[in-house]
Amino acid sequence: SVGPDVIDVTSITKNGFFTFDPGFMSTASCESKITFIDGDEGILLHRGYPIEQLAVSSDYIETCYLLLNGELPTPAQKAEFAQAIKDNSNVDQSVVNVIKSFKRDTHPMAILCSAVAALAGVYHAEIDITNAESRKLTAYRLIGQMPTLSAMVYKHRKGEEFIAPDTSLGYAENYLHMTFGKAGEAPNVSQTLAKAMDRIFVLHADHEQNASTSTVRLSGSSGTNPFAAIAAGISTLWGPSHGGANEAVLEMLEEIGSVENIESCVARAKDKTSGFRLMGFGHRVYKNFDPRAKVMKQTCDEVLGELGLENSPLLAIAKRLEQIALEDPYFISKKLYPNVDFYSGIILKAIEIPTEMFTVIFALGRAVGWYSHWDEMVSTSYKIGRPRQLYTGSVKRDYPAK
Ligand code: ACO
Repeated sequence: SVGPDVIDVTSITKNGFFTFDPGFMSTASCESKITFIDGDEGILLHRGYPIEQLAVSSDYIETCYLLLNGELPTPAQKAEFAQAIKDNSNVDQSVVNVIKSFKRDTHPMAILCSAVAALAGVYHAEIDITNAESRKLTAYRLIGQMPTLSAMVYKHRKGEEFIAPDTSLGYAENYLHMTFGKAGEAPNVSQTLAKAMDRIFVLHADHEQNASTSTVRLSGSSGTNPFAAIAAGISTLWGPSHGGANEAVLEMLEEIGSVENIESCVARAKDKTSGFRLMGFGHRVYKNFDPRAKVMKQTCDEVLGELGLENSPLLAIAKRLEQIALEDPYFISKKLYPNVDFYSGIILKAIEIPTEMFTVIFALGRAVGWYSHWDEMVSTSYKIGRPRQLYTGSVKRDYPAK
């Protein structure tokens, strides 16, 4: 046991079995009925429905309903849900002021994170996490305001006037209107782009216990305000090993610059001393194609085709890079395949979303997944998350006598 002079790991096993599992390689942190992944087979199901089918046949609002409620909505339920989200899309002036207080060159994720944390302040007195109706209203507020906040972040950085939500528009269409619209002008959003954006939201809606969702659950397990827990998730998503990878992929493709430079980029990614990884490749769970990446690639072809950008040099570089990596023994042996972020950046660039906004788009789509997990946790019995550690520090010692 931990005595005065020795540190013995068996001390922490006296109340039961102790596992040491850095990175949660083989430890489930919770039970969940929301999303199923088979990483070896490349399968992703939301409430049982394959992501490929949802991406093509459903839309983001319906997918949100499904994730939150467990079943697809009837047409009437969907209409009511969509309206409730629209009714809650306006942002309180205090949060608008928070966004406006940032320097214009601040990274968008820092502003978004603060804005969502500020929502915790706006609604704190009203939120009762033990009450299902209160949680439902909180979901409407989060899903309703994420596009408004994301567009405000973009407009603030550009120094342009904010555009109010237009409740006559669809979810993704309204987001693009608030982002690219001009004050005083009627909405004029391309349906092709709105459809592509909606599909990007669907493909990012949930992905079980990834780092940001686990963070939302862990943070929420203390009973904290759900907006505060979501803000913690946004912070986690920002990192380049997670949601920040979409930004990093595009920077990498632009840096490669032409097809001739791909081989040296791949060689650098294989060189462990370079500190460089092929961004948009590899996944903790998928040891096969990420099913979202397949749909994203197809969407990329469709969108660029419809925009007449099918000869885009970035698309050519991405496709050749994918081909080379998939044939390379290093990537084959480590089962490294393109992930969801590999092609999303090319679509977003075609939509003229600036690179530094890419992770904001990811957060916008993922908000419903984070919330669904938080809601699932707090509506059943749960314990505060409290991982243990393997202490490797100094043994007990006496403070020097004075
Ligand atoms: N390029 C080159 N080598 C890689 C890559 C890559 N993209 N990804 C993993 N490897 C190598 C590692 O160097 C390691 O090699 P080793 O066994 O010789 O040491 C091996 O593959 C396993 O890698 P780990 O980092 O241990 O795998 P882990 O499951 O912890 O990481 C991760 C997964 C973070 C996604 C990793 O593949 C990566 O960094 N990819 C690039 C960033 C990226 O695209 N992130 C987006 C993830 S998806 C998402 O969040 C939406």
